[in-house]
Amino acid sequence: MAKLLLIGALLLPAGALAASPAERLAAACQGCHGAAGGMPAIAGTHDAAELTAMLRGFRDHTRPATLMGRIARGYTDDEIVALAGFYARR
Ligand code: HEC
Repeated sequence: MAKLLLIGALLLPAGALAASPAERLAAACQGCHGAAGGMPAIAGTHDAAELTAMLRGFRDHTRPATLMGRIARGYTDDEIVALAGFYARR
């Protein structure tokens, strides 16, 4: 039940408001990290600094990953900071 409420809280603002740049970036992540808890769930689990460090670690191949190393490689530092802010806020 708590999980369902969290999902609702995640989806409502995105649907109700015009998409911000961070929301548009995060659209590429939602397929894996969005609904039904994600695999793994990232929204609201870490603060922005931690998420930024994780994504940079994936990008620089200092953090072990099956998929995220390849995904994070496509993002600039500014985009990583925006994505970290998006997922940390909720
Ligand atoms: C194709 C599915 C997929 C997509 C798309 C994807 N991820 Fe991931 N993500 C994963 C998997 C799987 C892991 C676990 C690490 C690994 O094996 O790569 C992960 C791990 C993570 C973690 C670390 C979570 C933790 O607690 O260790 C973060 C942060 C993250 N992803 C952010 C993102 C962001 C931001 C995007 C969009 C730019 C994104 N992911 C897109 C599959 C995906």
